[in-house]
Amino acid sequence: MSTFRLPPNSRVRRDGKMFRAPEGAKQPRTFRIYRFDPDSGENPRLDSYEVDMAACGPMVLDALIKIKNEVDSTLTFRRSCREGICGSCAMNIDGLNTLACTKACGDIKGDVTIYPLPHMPVVKDLVPDLTQFYAQYAAVKPWLQSRTPAPPDRERLQSKAEQEKIDRPSACILCACCSTACPSYWWNSDRYLGPAALLAAYRWIIDSRDEATGERLDELEDPFKLYRCHTIMNCTEACPKDLNPAKAIAEIKKLIVERQH
Ligand code: SF4
Ligand code: SF4
Ligand code: FES
Repeated sequence: MSTFRLPPNSRVRRDGKMFRAPEGAKQPRTFRIYRFDPDSGENPRLDSYEVDMAACGPMVLDALIKIKNEVDSTLTFRRSCREGICGSCAMNIDGLNTLACTKACGDIKGDVTIYPLPHMPVVKDLVPDLTQFYAQYAAVKPWLQSRTPAPPDRERLQSKAEQEKIDRPSACILCACCSTACPSYWWNSDRYLGPAALLAAYRWIIDSRDEATGERLDELEDPFKLYRCHTIMNCTEACPKDLNPAKAIAEIKKLIVERQH
């Protein structure tokens, strides 16, 4: 049987720094956070920060911002909207991919453990390199393709039913929680598009105004780009916006079969 070991420089050291809560803290809570600085040449490590929750907002992002502002300004993470809209603060919290700004500390038992999104190269600390993820999104041409000129005096109209079909898939915030929870994506992210990009493809395939459906399906009919999805469903479980990329992928496969008959 084969045995696999991580390269020595990627093993996470458990003996990181400890930052104690301030004197008189009323509700100390420990956050164990992945730290990695590629310029240091050192292995990644887990640092521990005790935060007084009596003087902190309720969400994991509140605690991260407090740590950065008051304890350790070197801690690096992405955030912008702090209300589940921008997708920037996606990370692995307590073993699950989610948004730090919508994850309540109160929903986690014991220490709060935070890693970057899994199986992605790390730029620094909790910041993954999403270059390939965005390139895959761009590869599905996530914009309207239409040959028929738009009416000169109004928009391209849709019925209510047509709009409702694209309503949920359009709510994707490109946080990458789904793709980085997908085992098929972990092992084949160079060739498998992953659930986020495929959900975006589906959103345009079913748009009544789009006239490139055939070309879009041709592009996806590929053993790797689409068919690496084995319906494991981790993606749908992980989505913090309650979207269903696994169903969208199944629908694309169905459309490809149906057009052959
Ligand atoms: S359903 Fe498909 S895309 Fe979703 S986690 Fe499973 S293999 Fe990945
Ligand atoms: S489908 Fe959900 S988890 Fe995936 S990128 Fe979009 S919002 Fe994030
Ligand atoms: S900060 Fe925008 S989604 Fe969390």
